[in-house]
Amino acid sequence: MPDKVLVTRRIPAAGLRLLEAEGFDLTVFSEEVPGRTELLEAARGASGVLSTVTERIDAGFMDAAGDNLKVVANMAVGYDNVDVTAARERGIVVTNTPGVLTETTADVAFMLMLAAARRLGEGERMLRSGKWRYWGPELLTGPDVWGKTLGIIGMGRIGEAVARRARGFEMDILYTSRSRKERVERKTGARRVHLDELLRESDFISIHTPLTTETRHLIGEPELQKMKPTAVLVNTSRGPVVDEAALADALAELLIFAAGLDVYEEEPAVHPKLLQLENVVLAPHIGSASIETRSKMAELAAENLRSVLRGERPANPVNL
Ligand code: DGY
Repeated sequence: MPDKVLVTRRIPAAGLRLLEAEGFDLTVFSEEVPGRTELLEAARGASGVLSTVTERIDAGFMDAAGDNLKVVANMAVGYDNVDVTAARERGIVVTNTPGVLTETTADVAFMLMLAAARRLGEGERMLRSGKWRYWGPELLTGPDVWGKTLGIIGMGRIGEAVARRARGFEMDILYTSRSRKERVERKTGARRVHLDELLRESDFISIHTPLTTETRHLIGEPELQKMKPTAVLVNTSRGPVVDEAALADALAELLIFAAGLDVYEEEPAVHPKLLQLENVVLAPHIGSASIETRSKMAELAAENLRSVLRGERPANPVNL
């Protein structure tokens, strides 16, 4: 009997081809996010699940799948949607897809930084609504990105890729990280500081930390108070790292200049106050959404799943 494998969303062909070639008994959901009941039903008896960030893979899911479940291969570098402790208790391997999305996500962080500083969203809305009347000496001016100080919260792979881009913009780089990154410091001139100093000194702040109990609401009202009134905050990591209500208030009161967000606390919902503000650029969680990268993520997730079901060690386990 072939192993039953559930793919919770339609994924790029490269990943599916690999699973098909292995001869699994495949159930592949559509583009839509499946409902919980439908998901649990489809998981029953599965040996492997290839999930995405939109599915909550918790103890209830694992129990619904049953004793056959050996692997949850998350098609993302972040895996806060998977209860890793519950998986460990049940002997289920959890994998993620690090590395392949680093540069693509760093591009989006930089894109948001530029767009928020140079008021791209606001300008586009003005133009499309027919309100652009003429070139203006002070029309839509914002701070330069070039030559400023960038604070990177979390100097992992993506943080480092952002730092490399910032070098090209001749920026000074500050960072926080659990450990010192001497190689990155040598390469980019980055300096490790305490969060307080980073918040006070940075013109731009980009968040690249995973969501954990320690990083939930790492940026809230007290932290926003410490930032420069000209600061631009960018978040491409996970929404709950920032207290969205506090950020909306800070932007409305011009406590900081602007923000660029790709992730939200309750996706796909966005705090209603943010939706009303001109000084925030809002992207729909597209950090890794390049054609090439999504294909590689699907392939890597499928490879991880296949390895576990073949009895081999997967390339990217997070709980072994
Ligand atoms: C990730 O990989 O964690 C992204 O957020 C999904 O695109």
